[in-house]
Amino acid sequence: MTSLDGTVLVTGGAGYIGSHTVRSLRAAGRDVVVLDSLELGRREAVIDAPLVVGNIADQDLVTATCNEYGVTQLVHFAAYKAVGESMENPAKYWRNNVAGTVELVEACLAAGVSDVVFSSSCSVNGTPETVPVTEDAAIRPESVYAESKAMVEKILSWYGVTNGLNSVSLRYFNAAGASFDGRIGEDWTYSFNLIPLAMKAVLLDDYQLNVFGDDYATPDGTCIRDYIHVEDLADAHVKALTYLGNGGESTAVNVGTGTGSSVFEVINATAAIAGRPVRHEVVARRAGDPVSTYANPDHALETLGWSAKHDLGAIVQTAYEWHLSQLDGSR
Ligand code: UD1
Repeated sequence: MTSLDGTVLVTGGAGYIGSHTVRSLRAAGRDVVVLDSLELGRREAVIDAPLVVGNIADQDLVTATCNEYGVTQLVHFAAYKAVGESMENPAKYWRNNVAGTVELVEACLAAGVSDVVFSSSCSVNGTPETVPVTEDAAIRPESVYAESKAMVEKILSWYGVTNGLNSVSLRYFNAAGASFDGRIGEDWTYSFNLIPLAMKAVLLDDYQLNVFGDDYATPDGTCIRDYIHVEDLADAHVKALTYLGNGGESTAVNVGTGTGSSVFEVINATAAIAGRPVRHEVVARRAGDPVSTYANPDHALETLGWSAKHDLGAIVQTAYEWHLSQLDGSR
């Protein structure tokens, strides 16, 4: 009997990346229970996995859930993720993303959970000194949101020292795209990210995308990011749990493709797939945007046996099809 024989508790499993991960875990034969407040998550996205509605800081609820379902491993997504909001309302991020995680982990530890996969972010590195970014790059968060991720990474590693908890912090680059069967995707109502907004601009006549600066020192003047398909990202969680269940050491892992794409490349790929232009206008740079960041994915391959399978074309294609189906009301 190893932790791989028990159930996986997925906090935030009704959210965008969480719901894709729930599906991948179940496809891999794992038993899953979702804990989600449904403040930003969608009940439909969980499909038919067991769902407990509540807060991660509710220790009684977490304990009861762990005991009822026989939880041995945790995947922790539940967190706020709006960088701008985190600078205006930092307490919301310290309370939920940091203090809430401590309550959650304490309850999980008491219930016998041994392994945690944590939803971290490449933003813990701030503006990287060199690209591609490796896991030993300096931790230099540039927002309250990013600091909340860096703090939880540290807290989890201290729980390794004090309580023997094993953890993998997955540092996502830019999650994007929708499921290949068209069932779940990223709602643009709750997102300020480039790809959902590019979809909005190509599909709605009354919306125009703002391009935040085209005078950067990059080939086409726009910022470069590593867009990673959400199903690839989900697969990284499945593999990280397997790694921990097989006795792997705690570590942080960059989860990206290793290839950077510019904002204009995303716009052009979207226009090509939709067969119509993406209405956009170049506006001022956005404060705090790193010029260029993309992952060195070697550590992910070496430790987890994971690498990305899908490229920007697949990301844009699946995102486009999903958004189109939402507009048609065919869901
Ligand atoms: C940011 C965070 C990241 C977080 C993610 C989740 C930073 C450095 N990164 O990623 O940690 O996990 O949000 O929300 O804070 N763009 C436009 N117009 C738009 C939107 C975006 O031109 O309307 C451009 C941005 O300038 C950027 C690229 O598109 O170059 C991607 O932006 P976005 O999707 O917002 O993600 P990040 O800022 O990279």
